[in-house]
Parts: sequence; structure tokens; C-alpha cells
Amino acid sequence: MQEKIIVLDFGSQYSQLIARRVRECHVYSQILPYSTPASAIAAERPRGIILSGGPASVYAERAPKCDPAIFDLGIPVLGICYGLQLTIHTLGGEITRGKAREYGKATLKLRKTSPLFSGLPEELEVWMSHGDKVSKMPEGGFDILGSSDNTEYCAVQMHGREIYGLQFHPEVVHTPRGKEILANFCLKICRCAGNWTMSSFVDTAVREIRAKVGRANVILGLSGGVDSSVAAALIHKAIGRQLHCIFVNNGLLRKNEAQRVRDLFGRTFNMKLVYVDAEERFLAKLAGVTEPEKKRKIIGNEFVRVFDDAAAQITDAEFLAQGTTYPDVIESVPVDGNPAAMIKSHHNVGGLPKEMKFKLLEPLNRLFKDEVRELGRELGLPEDVVMRQPFPGPGLAVRHLGALKKETLDILRNADEIVVDEIKKAGLYHKIWQSFAVFLPLCSVGVMGDERSYDYCIALRIVESTDGMTADWVDLPKSLLSRISSRITNEVAGVNRVVYDVTSKPPATIEWE
Ligand code: XMP
Repeated sequence: MQEKIIVLDFGSQYSQLIARRVRECHVYSQILPYSTPASAIAAERPRGIILSGGPASVYAERAPKCDPAIFDLGIPVLGICYGLQLTIHTLGGEITRGKAREYGKATLKLRKTSPLFSGLPEELEVWMSHGDKVSKMPEGGFDILGSSDNTEYCAVQMHGREIYGLQFHPEVVHTPRGKEILANFCLKICRCAGNWTMSSFVDTAVREIRAKVGRANVILGLSGGVDSSVAAALIHKAIGRQLHCIFVNNGLLRKNEAQRVRDLFGRTFNMKLVYVDAEERFLAKLAGVTEPEKKRKIIGNEFVRVFDDAAAQITDAEFLAQGTTYPDVIESVPVDGNPAAMIKSHHNVGGLPKEMKFKLLEPLNRLFKDEVRELGRELGLPEDVVMRQPFPGPGLAVRHLGALKKETLDILRNADEIVVDEIKKAGLYHKIWQSFAVFLPLCSVGVMGDERSYDYCIALRIVESTDGMTADWVDLPKSLLSRISSRITNEVAGVNRVVYDVTSKPPATIEWE
């Protein structure tokens, strides 16, 4: 059985980060809701359990509590922030509410040697973010491993037991040696071997896919984005030509995108690729439509029809593969005041019908995005594919205001290619969340040589973000903006003006529609 650490989620915005840090130590981690019964946790046979932080107070009326029996499973436990407070509260100590609010940097001074801090200096910079704090330890049971100026019980261990607690957050980058603390917990205290790597993941996933699929055929909707590309490469490695990829050109793709996908997957990888040129079909349905939601609906519905038609041509297809990733499947924890509960993907890619007759194959559903990229590299996908910026399902339709026409979509495609090219040349493409052009169906007056022009306008949307839920525009150097602007007005016929979108999200969204 795969060795693993369970992260019990009490509604912290950092639960996923904890799980990722554990995986960075080459130990597989799995996030479960705080209410998971101890028996169900034991059935997973984890090497250790980490209790996350959370927005609640242990004394709140609806405070999330774990099954107290987890402390008797004989499995090491590490409570972080709320996780520490809950541990202490459950085992008979006391927590002071409110008054002890502490946010930001603090210095942890170690008072007792412990494997948790093995290899670390006696003073460590740590990051605090808590309102309550432990005021009294359970009777006779706990040792103080370290304290900060404001928090005596900053790092503690239950006497003679492998139950630990930290008031600070080791998972955030503001605790510079935090990853080593988590590594010590996983490797030294939980005695994990730390052999979970991408190549071991590939071996296991290939075995599992083969066992699940048998001799059946699998269909996958390839979009050219990171997730579907990596899923295709992985499944192809497992079952070769039993995989049938369907790539729909909806006329809303970036410049040369269709050719790129056909070259890479069809030729280089030699996959079975059904290419459906549905440009005319989509543009006909969209003709004259200006209302953003209506456009999205038409595109979604048409995609399902086109995909269905293409899938019907593939015989013996039993499975539909999707590039669903771990954040899409983690159950969000309904804790009062929990922002994580609201941060759920509001856009689910593809929009395939729920009632499809296929069984689902989702081989990436245990991986975080960075891991999907790493897996892509492991499988030989080019950097250009694995590091691709997000591209919305409805494609250029949400970046082209007003009614869609082939001619103006081409203007957008040409301008967009210049934006991406210049951002890449400046070495910024991988550092930026998204960088693209937006077509505005507005004409304004310009002058070129002695001639007056009356042409369209292109907006640049270049934003930083960590998850797409909030974003800020990037303060690009003037020289780069000037270069993009002059290239677009010189090279793209029909455009005489370029503007830079300096709005954050909120109040604006990243895409313009
Ligand atoms: P907004 O425009 O809502 O976008 O700020 C947030 C993030 O989601 C992407 N996006 C989509 N992705 N299908 C997708 O797969 C969609 O319909 C869709 N709409 C927006 C957007 O590119 C950004 O990264």
C-alpha cells in the first residue's frame, strides 16, 4: 500500500498547501474532511495525520471537531494552529479566546531537542496567524519544545507520545525552514521512506489504467491545455492506440493552435487523433450574438453535440477520460467563516454532459497543478505545453467583445500572438498567470503617414494571480508595452490603437466576458 499522510481539513485556506508541502517531501498526502471517523482514517493506513488550521475557535458553537479517537490510533499526529488548539482542547487543556491575536513574523526559540526540529537552529523565524492560543496544557501530559515572545506553547509534544502541535504555520513560505519541519514529521517521526516521485506515480498510474480499462477503448477531449494534454500522454503510455483523442476546432482557438495540437499528438506522439473542424458550425450558431452568457451557452451546447457526434464514430468506447485534477475533487469543508468553501472552481472546463453513457477515467485526480506539469515533463511533453497559461473553454469568444466574425477573430489571433511572443521574449510568460489580447469592436480615429484611419482597438490583459479567483494587472516596463503596441499597430491590419487594462479582479474579471 502507498505510504501516505492524511491532512484533516478544518477549513483552512492552507490545507492544500500542507498537502503539497508533504508531497514535496516525496510522501503522498491526502486531504480528508475533519469529520472523517477515526475508523475510516485507520482504514487508509496512514503513516501520520496532520490537523490543519481553520478559521474557527474551539469554543465556537459549531466548531469543527475531529473524532477524538484519532489520538488513540497509535499514528503520529501534528496539529497546526487550530489543529494544535483542538488537540490541546480535546485532551483536556485550555484555550484563551480572542485576546491573543497574533499575525506575522515571530521568533521560535527551541527549548527541548526533538526529532521535529532535527537539523534546525535554536532560533527560527516562523509565521503566526491566530486569534486564540493555548493557555493551559492538559494535566501532566505535554512538553514545551519551543516558545516565542508572545506564545509560550508555540511548539509542543505530548509526553512520551508522537502527538505534536505547532501554533505557527510551517507550510507557508514566510516560515523559511517550515518545509524542513514538515519533512522531519513525515520522514523522522512518521518514518516514511519518501519514495513518492513522479516516475513512481507514472508506473502506478499506468498499471491502474491498464487494469481498469482492459481491452476497451477510451475517448478523451483534447483541448491543448495542460490537463487534457498530460492526461492524454499518460493514458497513451498505458494503453497506446486504445486511446482516441477528439480535438474540436471551434473557430475560437489561438493562432496555429489546431496545427500545433495535431503535430504534437498526432505526429510526434502518434496518437489516434480525431480532428473535427467545426469552425463554420460554431460561427454560424454564434452569428450576431453579443450577449456574453448567451455566447457561452451556445458554445457549450454546440461542443457537446460536436463531441457526441465524433465519439459515436468510435466503436467499443467504454471510457471517457478527463483531466480532472485534485483541487476539483477535494470535498470543500463547510466551516463557518471559511473562505475556502467559496473558493471552488466556478468554471469547469469542457462542459461535457453529465448523462454521458461512458465510465469516467480521471488519472490526474490525485495531483495538484504543479504535479500535473511535472508529470507532463516526465512523459516527454514539451515545456511549451506543460507551462501553458490557462485558456478558457469558450476560447477567444470571451476575449472578443460583441458579435463574432472570422475576420475580427483573425485580427484578435494576430494581435494575441504578438502579445504572447513579446511576453515570452521578455522571459515573463511563465511568471505571469495570463497574458493575452482582447478585441474591442470599437473604431477610433488614427493617423498613419498622411492618412487618417478609422480602425479597431486591442486591449492588453496581463495579470498576476495564484488561482484565478483574484488577480492584479502587471506593471510591465514601458519599453515592453511600447514594443507590443507598435508591433500590433504595425503588423495587424485593422488595428490603430492599443490600450492597457489596469483593473484588478475584483472588480473586473480576468476575461472580458
Ligand atoms: P474570470 O474571467 O472569471 O476568469 O476572472 C478566471 C479564470 O478562469 C478562466 N476562465 C475559464 N476557464 N472555462 C474555463 O475553462 C471558462 O468558461 C472560463 N472562463 C474563464 C480564465 O481564463 C481565468 O484564468
